[in-house]
Amino acid sequence: MPNPLPDSCVMKSLLQDKSKPHILMSPPDYFTVAYAINPWMTQGAVDVDLAKKQWENLYHAITQKAGAQVHLMPPVDGLPDLVFTANAAFVYKDTAIIAHYKYPERQPEEPFCEKWFNENGYRTVTMPEDLFFEGAGDALIWKDRVFAGYKTRTDILSHHIITKETGLPVLSMELIDSRFYHIDVCICPLYNDYFLYYPEAFDEYGKRVIEANIPVEKRIPVTAEEASRFACNTVNINNTVIFNQGSHRLAGVLEEKGFQVIQLDLSEYLKSGGSAKCLTLRIA
Ligand code: ARG
Repeated sequence: MPNPLPDSCVMKSLLQDKSKPHILMSPPDYFTVAYAINPWMTQGAVDVDLAKKQWENLYHAITQKAGAQVHLMPPVDGLPDLVFTANAAFVYKDTAIIAHYKYPERQPEEPFCEKWFNENGYRTVTMPEDLFFEGAGDALIWKDRVFAGYKTRTDILSHHIITKETGLPVLSMELIDSRFYHIDVCICPLYNDYFLYYPEAFDEYGKRVIEANIPVEKRIPVTAEEASRFACNTVNINNTVIFNQGSHRLAGVLEEKGFQVIQLDLSEYLKSGGSAKCLTLRIA
């Protein structure tokens, strides 16, 4: 397990440090599948030792190969999904809009996320009690706008709070397939304005929204098979992309566009309905 990272001084200057990207992760000490709140979570037991190795490989790829700095949110016994820091908050500049989870199983994560962002110099915003919002799992920035998912987890009414708190316009995208229950498993804005997406996770109107916003030469559609291997759940740091193994066609497409592709085995996280990008949150 990597050392819990930086000292508090480094943490305080995190928002000011523009020299490298900063990513939040949370070690998988208590990761397992203890309940089923998405259709992937019925595939059987997690190999927890293997899960730890897979998480360390991702950590290593992000810090050593992609050159980002990783900060760690301490794991909490009894909160197996805290490892999916993508959901903790939606972060834009110094603002962190803290998740308010739909399912009671994940709601106890909220105070730990809020505490971490408060202690690390962010202005935190919480959702009203009756609005569910699952952080960057359901809201991703492409250029100057946010693509935000709703219905399976996040409430559409939370989207106006994103705009109110950040000034960013939001495109509200209905998620129509229960397997693609967060928008970060069906789209991924990439370096150089590329846009990875699984068209069938959206209805005709959603597809039109994508087509109206993203120039055709920037769109990178993935197949059903690639989407099921969580190809859209990609960690992107500059021109490096890191995703779950097995999507060779896609790897070739991305390499042709100048990306350095790293494919990792993240099998144990797929059993929870997560993959590379879910395990990370860009915080600066
Ligand atoms: N088991 C977790 C859940 O269902 C997985 C979360 C994956 N996170 C994500 N950003 N897609 O909530």
